[in-house]
Amino acid sequence: MRMVAVLAAATLLAASACGSGHDDPPPPSTVEVFSWWAEGGEKAGLDALVARFGTDCPGQRFENGAVAGGAGVNAKQALTERMVRHDPPDTFQAHAGAELLDYIDAGQVEDLTAYYADWGLRDVLPARLIDDLTVRDKIYSVPADIHRANVVWTNPSVLAGAGITTPPKDLPAFLGDLAKLKAAGVEAPLALGRDWTQLMLLESVLITDLGADRFAGLFTGATDWKGAPVTKAIGDFATLLDYGNPDRDSLDWPQAERLLIDGKAGYQLMGDWAAADLTAKGFPGYGWFTFPGNGNTFQWLADSFTLSTGATNIGGTECWLKTVSSAAGQQVFNEAKGSIPARTDVPAAGFSPYQQSAMTDWKSAVQVPSCAHGSACSQGWQSAVNAALRAYSAAPDAGTLQAALADAATRFIRS
Ligand code: GAL
Repeated sequence: MRMVAVLAAATLLAASACGSGHDDPPPPSTVEVFSWWAEGGEKAGLDALVARFGTDCPGQRFENGAVAGGAGVNAKQALTERMVRHDPPDTFQAHAGAELLDYIDAGQVEDLTAYYADWGLRDVLPARLIDDLTVRDKIYSVPADIHRANVVWTNPSVLAGAGITTPPKDLPAFLGDLAKLKAAGVEAPLALGRDWTQLMLLESVLITDLGADRFAGLFTGATDWKGAPVTKAIGDFATLLDYGNPDRDSLDWPQAERLLIDGKAGYQLMGDWAAADLTAKGFPGYGWFTFPGNGNTFQWLADSFTLSTGATNIGGTECWLKTVSSAAGQQVFNEAKGSIPARTDVPAAGFSPYQQSAMTDWKSAVQVPSCAHGSACSQGWQSAVNAALRAYSAAPDAGTLQAALADAATRFIRS
């Protein structure tokens, strides 16, 4: 309640500052927005949102606090350091789910529940997403998007060169197509990147080998990481890695994607930020399919924005959050970002064919969360798993990897 009063007062101040009637308008207040959207389709999405913010929030100036690096690997560390120094940005990007809980438990984000009522968000966001955002009856962030993680992107002309014209129906067929590409002279048919991108690939394989329910159970304690299906998945993952580029550990996802664009690879498993990025980089003719064997499973993650504890410009940040959560904001942002709006009332027209297919799937698919992108795993868990994958990539030993994954689950699972 106290929070709501503070916010209301700050908003009034911001509003009266904008309409004070003096000849010289006051200098704009600054809202520092922290994210990891620094290039390509990600930056295009952020820019679209910033333009909307400029219209919605006169008197407020956007300050870009972005720290580059896919999946926020560098940004999250930089954010933690700023938190320790008591120098938080006004608002920061955080994944809905387990990752957000880290910030909530540390008292680093404010309760935004009152905004949900003021802005009518409960009526326009999926009930399931609201549930995922709700912690002890409160909500601490507003979602900007829904991304899908388990998608394979293709270079259709590379595939055609090896006689591949249809998506594989299952994992063995996918391995068959990778072998065809190799035989046709494509040295690294599957474009691979560093640790967290390998985790995404492993998660997709786990969905295929365990099925959606047992996959989701890996993060609740219902499924044993030491079990035979996980052993099988690690074996399939190892086979897939053999079809990839050997310099995988030194590439972030856009550099791996470059192999696809340049025709050096036929496939890349990546979240659907790739859809916007491929277009932004002049390659709109990509193909896509859900990872083979995943059936109608939609592995979801959602970017959301918070109000930092200790934010200096509360009124301006409130306006940023309102833009992020608005139908108009979600339309322009998601069109440019490759994701789909978290809101259910944004019209599909204007979105790419890929995005329109994702919107349809989101309504009917089986939803499972992502560890690499925080809907399933806390940051500590993610770091432990990424470290295990780095170790595996350097010196592959299936037993060591499975034991490390099981150990991480034991240490970080929340009851
Ligand atoms: C995810 C994030 C996406 C995109 C991606 C690649 O964690 O949710 O919006 O930024 O990383 O960097």
